[in-house]
Amino acid sequence: MAEQPLLTPYHSEKLDLRNRVVMAPMTRSRSDNPQHAPNDLVVEYYQQRASAGLLITEGTYVSRDAVGYINVPGIYTPEQVTGWQKVTGAVHAQGGKIFVQLWHVGRMSHPDLLGGALPLAPSALNPHAQVYTPTGFKETVTPQAMTLEQIQQVIADFAQAAKNALAAGFDGMEVHSSNGYLFHQFFNKSSNTRTDEYGGSIENRARLLFDVLDAIQAAGVDLGKVGARLNPSLHGLFGMTVDEETIPTFDYIVRRLNDYGLAYLHLSEPFTDVSQVPHAEPHIAQHYRPLYEGTLIINSKFDQEKGNQVIADGNADLVAFGVPYISNPDLVERFEQHAPLAEGDKNTFYAGGVNGYTDYPKLENAK
Ligand SMILES: Cc1cc2nc3c(=O)[nH]c(=O)nc-3n(C[C@H](O)[C@H](O)[C@H](O)COP(=O)(O)O)c2cc1C
Repeated sequence: MAEQPLLTPYHSEKLDLRNRVVMAPMTRSRSDNPQHAPNDLVVEYYQQRASAGLLITEGTYVSRDAVGYINVPGIYTPEQVTGWQKVTGAVHAQGGKIFVQLWHVGRMSHPDLLGGALPLAPSALNPHAQVYTPTGFKETVTPQAMTLEQIQQVIADFAQAAKNALAAGFDGMEVHSSNGYLFHQFFNKSSNTRTDEYGGSIENRARLLFDVLDAIQAAGVDLGKVGARLNPSLHGLFGMTVDEETIPTFDYIVRRLNDYGLAYLHLSEPFTDVSQVPHAEPHIAQHYRPLYEGTLIINSKFDQEKGNQVIADGNADLVAFGVPYISNPDLVERFEQHAPLAEGDKNTFYAGGVNGYTDYPKLENAK
């Protein structure tokens, strides 16, 4: 391939990017409790990676109730907004673009992280997963089934967080409706047994996402600055399952998103081998490209070659890279030079501090 599709600029009505390499959202646990505010180390980390066409930040809590991990940033206090202003300023100074990922973990939390309160969820069903608390890993508990008032509060929290994102200088925001967290818990039949307008039918289980998008728009935020992330074939993580309605549910969501004029839709290929899982869709980009009219980001286990190919094949517009971005801050320059990639150290993904965070070197001869 003479010209690499990944390295060509991308222009749509909503996005103007210098290349098609996206940094996937990744929790790195460097924004210390109890403030959950990004600090100067976080500024340096994103600045180092600013040559990506688009950076998507780590999952960022929309409220105090949204918390599920320690040392993860939020965007619901003035101190957090100030911290993010430094991040966006540093990225923009390098000519980069950055979206914040807006997150509510739902039942993937623990009373130890919520001042003793039970986590919020569509239904009182324990995912039987592990969460990392201030005193180490603990088993999740049975969450509280959200009242309609609590659902309205979460919707309002997302709308406020969206306004805060603009105040913090972000180019946009991504709703984290993926990976087994709150929205996904509503979408999935095994975690949502509600009998009101947020449970039962596909339309009802998908409703929260559209309510949140409507509320963000009603708060005065242009939906052209909003993306959404979905992981349709997630199976076996955080209590998520695939059943006969899973793919039809995501088909419904994706088709309906066409009416919302979002900045993009961000999809993940299955994290695990689902070729033997009944009803799972193993080829997400191929399946959803014909259904979605807007900008499509695809993610999960892509390398330079596969990334170039998926764009050349017309199955995605942009490719998000996660783990490769941890240890290759200059991933774009390495792709340009066909340079080897550095391996990341899993032990320091969430470890705190400089080590394994901002100390991965750039190529010496990087342009
Ligand atoms: C350390 C780490 C933290 C992650 N945190 C998030 C997150 O906050 N939000 C999210 O949507 N995905 C998160 N992910 C998933 C990544 O965005 C991505 O989907 C995954 O790493 C697969 O892409 P890759 O094969 O390019 O790494 C995380 C992944 C890793 C490795």
